[in-house]
Amino acid sequence: MTVGIDKIAFFTSPYYIETADLAKARGVDPNKYLIGIGQKRQSVIPPTQDTVTLAANAAVKVLTQEDRDTIDMVILGTETGIDNSKAGAIYIQELLGITQAARAFEIKQACYGATAGVQMAVEHVTLHPHSKVLVIASDIARYGLKTAGEVTQGGGAVAMLISSDPEILILGGQSAFHSENIMDFWRPLYRREALVDGHYSTDVYIDFFNKTWQQYQQATGQSLSDFSAFVFHLPFTKMGLKALRSVVSTSEHADRLLHEFDFSTQYGEIVGNLYTGSLYLSLLSLLANSDQLHIGDRIGLFSYGSGAQGEFYSGQLATGFKRQLLKTSVEDVLTNRQQLTIPEYEQLYSTDISLHAGDVDFDTQKDESRFLLAGRHGGQLK
Ligand code: HMG
Repeated sequence: MTVGIDKIAFFTSPYYIETADLAKARGVDPNKYLIGIGQKRQSVIPPTQDTVTLAANAAVKVLTQEDRDTIDMVILGTETGIDNSKAGAIYIQELLGITQAARAFEIKQACYGATAGVQMAVEHVTLHPHSKVLVIASDIARYGLKTAGEVTQGGGAVAMLISSDPEILILGGQSAFHSENIMDFWRPLYRREALVDGHYSTDVYIDFFNKTWQQYQQATGQSLSDFSAFVFHLPFTKMGLKALRSVVSTSEHADRLLHEFDFSTQYGEIVGNLYTGSLYLSLLSLLANSDQLHIGDRIGLFSYGSGAQGEFYSGQLATGFKRQLLKTSVEDVLTNRQQLTIPEYEQLYSTDISLHAGDVDFDTQKDESRFLLAGRHGGQLK
């Protein structure tokens, strides 16, 4: 029996900005954002969406009734959840009509949370082969207007169904992980935007990638030649490129792996940072856009969550992965987005997305997503 990702789906906001427009508004050379950072567009999350609706909108695209009846665990990986106590997974379970005979909970460790969920799901299905686990990564990345991190914002969700005999990616092999108490990026309870030491965070990311990659090679005896591609958590596409270069620079496999890496960034560079979902959007991007991949090929995955936790693991392409199907499902979301001007984005950004969604002075009628945030209980008990 094999275990791994059987289905995968992506969702983001129907609004975006061009980073070249943002650069002009901030008095920055657009090439800094387009080439130096490697981001072309950024999803802008409207008041009609939060991490719960983003997650439900992603998962609803792939779940059948049989899945809803069989799933016995719903795991939400997020660092921008809607409640400090109650798990967003409980709302998602209800919105999607998943059986109540399931565990539903949330995992938090910055951008790493969904990877913890995937690993837990794989172990659960290995022990209980008839189970299915829904793991959803959902986040809204915010740094603040006119900050250095502004160009690395974004948001959206990736939903994955973990089952036995998966169609897409077989998991369950060796993992290498490293954690350390580091203040590179964090968001205390009283803040809506993260505090970040940007340059330090990029150094720690590369260090953790190198540490976990070394550990993984020692544990498995595998090396670059065993991999068809690497996919990375992509806070911005240049970050993954720097990490990959740090291990392939003098290798004969550099050209091949750098070429495949480009396919893995095609969606991230027009969506921005998804935090927990970013690594899995890179995977989707690779699978949907590369025409060099074959069944059985090994893909390396590097997950990083500030604070900090890193994990390197790998999977092998399963017999049922269909490039065109994945491509259509992602591009349906991305091609119908509406471009915002920078003043429109700034107005939207400054609106409290979590409260009084119905009161926003912005035309959200264009958001035709299946699940919308219409407002919240104002802290009242029934
Ligand atoms: P910055 O200081 O404005 O940018 O912020 P910079 O001055 O370092 O320039 C960036 C790059 O643009 C440089 O290239 C410049 O040379 C280049 P590099 O040397 O790095 O290769 N550049 C140009 N290129 C072409 N034409 C030009 C030009 N000008 C300059 N004219 C920074 C950049 C990433 C620090 C900032 O955006 C930031 O703080 N972002 C947020 C933090 C972040 O994303 N960190 C990533 C690692 S941590 C992580 O991944 C975890 C995270 O996802 C959170 C979580 O886990 O929950 C963030």
